[in-house]
Amino acid sequence: MSNLFSQLDGIGAKALEQIEGASDLATLELVRVSVLGKKGALSEVLKGLGSASAEDRPKIGAAANDWKRKIEEALEKKKGGLEDQALETRLASERIDISLPSRGLHKGALHPITQTTRRIIQTLGRLGFDIATGPEVETEFLNFEAVNIPKDHPARDMQDTFFMGPGVVLRTHTSAIQMRAMRNQKWPVRILCPGAVYRCDSDATHSPMFHQIEGLWVDKKVSMSDLVGVLEFFAKEMFGSSTKIRLRPSFFPFVEPGAEVDVSWGKDRWLEVLGAGMVHPRLFEMAGYPAGEAQGFAFGMGIERIAMLLHGIDDLRLMYQGDVRFLKQF
Ligand code: PHE
Repeated sequence: MSNLFSQLDGIGAKALEQIEGASDLATLELVRVSVLGKKGALSEVLKGLGSASAEDRPKIGAAANDWKRKIEEALEKKKGGLEDQALETRLASERIDISLPSRGLHKGALHPITQTTRRIIQTLGRLGFDIATGPEVETEFLNFEAVNIPKDHPARDMQDTFFMGPGVVLRTHTSAIQMRAMRNQKWPVRILCPGAVYRCDSDATHSPMFHQIEGLWVDKKVSMSDLVGVLEFFAKEMFGSSTKIRLRPSFFPFVEPGAEVDVSWGKDRWLEVLGAGMVHPRLFEMAGYPAGEAQGFAFGMGIERIAMLLHGIDDLRLMYQGDVRFLKQF
């Protein structure tokens, strides 16, 4: 009787014990390879089969197969158990406590400049103004010459200009848009021209990039009193129904007469908010509108300035820093 039987039993019993004791899947795999692998204990024993008697050989083979099946079953069972256990551990560690307080949602909102722009457009839109836009990189011609600011005119110094190349500038005011619009469409026109503008200037009240909105109303009979009516409506809607406006004569090359417009602020205080005037005939000529027939007024204002007045903000630079603590307030 070959001692191969007892070797097999020894290997089998030890394997079952190791399988039972394995604490994780990696250990279990090591046990599997050490017993059932090509160079595992079972194969090693079967190599001795040649020396066994012809009578014993099939019995030993059967016994080996028996152990193999038992070990495989044990492995399978243990593996299932270990996997369940691993899943349990993972589920426990990933458990979400839905009773914890939330971290809070940060809701996006429109920037105060956008809010103010929209409010101005909504307000004046009720008077029938459409919106016109234009490029921020503008020709020197449309930004200056066409709105009656010839080369070497001192008014060019009022608007320190960024030059992009010969004859090309970053527009210094939205008046460039109104000129563009007039040259592209027939009159009558009633448009609002919002957009970013650029001037080489920077301090607490000036930024090299800021925003303007300009109004233009051209028709057959449009007078200074229409302008005053529109501006009064605008001021009351924006700043409160008791707001008054005051016009002070001023100079802008593209209007004649021109005025600076103040709004009343509390008792006995006036704040300048915009420039305005009757469109200079030279602009109609530049637009190709019939001489002496078209009449109109224009007004332009800084959007940041309006937003600062509405919200009591004293430093323009806050508008551009993207500081959430500031922006959250709007
Ligand atoms: N374009 C002028 C500026 O930038 C504002 C303005 C517009 C004044 C229209 C009068 C009429 O200051």
